[in-house]
Amino acid sequence: MTLTHEPATRDVAGFDIYEHAVQDDPLPWYRLLRDEAPLFHNVEHDYWVLSRHADVHRATRDDEGFSNRMGVTLDASAWNEHAHLVMSFLAMDAPEATRLRRLVSRAFTPRRVRELGPTVERLTAAYLDAALERGPSLDWITDVAGRIPMDVISDMMGVPESDRAEVRRLSDLLVHREDGLRDVPPAGIEASMTLFAYYADMLAERRRRPSDDLTSALLNAEDESGRMTDAEITAFLFLMVVAGNETTTKLLGNALHHLSGEPAQLREVLADPTGPLVDPWVEETLRYDASTQYVARLVTRDLSLHGVTAPAGSKLLLALGAANHDDRVFTDPDRFDVHRSPAELAEHVSFGGGRHFCLGANLARLEARLVLRALVDRVCDLEVHHDRSVRFYSANVRGFARLPITVTPRAGAR
Ligand code: HEM
Repeated sequence: MTLTHEPATRDVAGFDIYEHAVQDDPLPWYRLLRDEAPLFHNVEHDYWVLSRHADVHRATRDDEGFSNRMGVTLDASAWNEHAHLVMSFLAMDAPEATRLRRLVSRAFTPRRVRELGPTVERLTAAYLDAALERGPSLDWITDVAGRIPMDVISDMMGVPESDRAEVRRLSDLLVHREDGLRDVPPAGIEASMTLFAYYADMLAERRRRPSDDLTSALLNAEDESGRMTDAEITAFLFLMVVAGNETTTKLLGNALHHLSGEPAQLREVLADPTGPLVDPWVEETLRYDASTQYVARLVTRDLSLHGVTAPAGSKLLLALGAANHDDRVFTDPDRFDVHRSPAELAEHVSFGGGRHFCLGANLARLEARLVLRALVDRVCDLEVHHDRSVRFYSANVRGFARLPITVTPRAGAR
């Protein structure tokens, strides 16, 4: 099963990322964009879209022409000069972005990420085994995939276990959008203020009583420019939630959704309990259905491409999801294929590129691989109930709110 239907009745002029009809079935739209309007202008809402792989790739590496300083989403209240207050260096350009990312990288180290492996395994075992004990039918998102990423982030930051369920609830409220709504709903704004205040309090507490968590390490991180201010650290903690929670949940959901649509590949992946195909399965899911479909940029100088010009000051979307299906780069791009060549998989742009390349890419991969390996270890067959699955509607994050599944436990599995 693929996401595609025949594009014959579609007119590229009707493309709008906020429409549920587009979010339900984006691939035909992406093909139209790449082939007919590679620099597309949504006239009604006045934003532009780049969709070809080469153009998106180039734009992520040209931060003089494409600025992050208004943030990376077009949601009305999020697109503004103050976006960095909640999105830290993701909503900044060099040299400020470089300074903060360098300081954060002193605390958010590859070693700290690697050391999270046992925590991910422990959390996965707890959630997955509890769900499997209740019976062979479970909701992959609400029982497992929706819980682990935020708990991992909380563990890394040092949020006490007793607060984690509430922190997870607040973070879930941040991204949901009703159909056609082009802004953050009041519940999302309220949740973000509560969460922001929570992190500010936690930071003050760590200043009084340091620990060995990321928050304490951020307080100590120092270079020739000095240390980060409390406001800078709080904004980064908040950025981790915005950037690393839903995206990873959606990756885990999309992985099951798409693999189950290819029964022969599903059988292959589940055939060996040690999970040799899990890594390419994760990577192909990232390519096929990127959790982050678009990142926004401010065009800083007139952009003339493919015969049209987006003037300086325009809002522009880099359509990562569309770039990942460009047949100028990928063979049979609308087919989900866990055997896609490593060379092709290396070309996906789901973690962005250039200066703002995802800081959490290693963590996201670690989580996805360990969680899916744990599933393959315990389960020899599974069915996704597509008729009861519920898509999560958001202009930027793509995936499911509910994904009911029924599994066949492996004989002798825990
Ligand atoms: C499947 C999971 C994930 C996906 C698809 C993803 C995707 C992305 C993308 C596309 C960007 C670049 C945004 C831009 O250029 O405007 C980004 C940046 C970022 N991501 Fe991720 N991400 C994921 C998981 C995570 C995790 C787990 C964390 C950390 C907990 C994280 C932290 C960040 C940070 C801090 C940035 C900003 C980097 C910068 O501006 O220098 N991400 N991510």
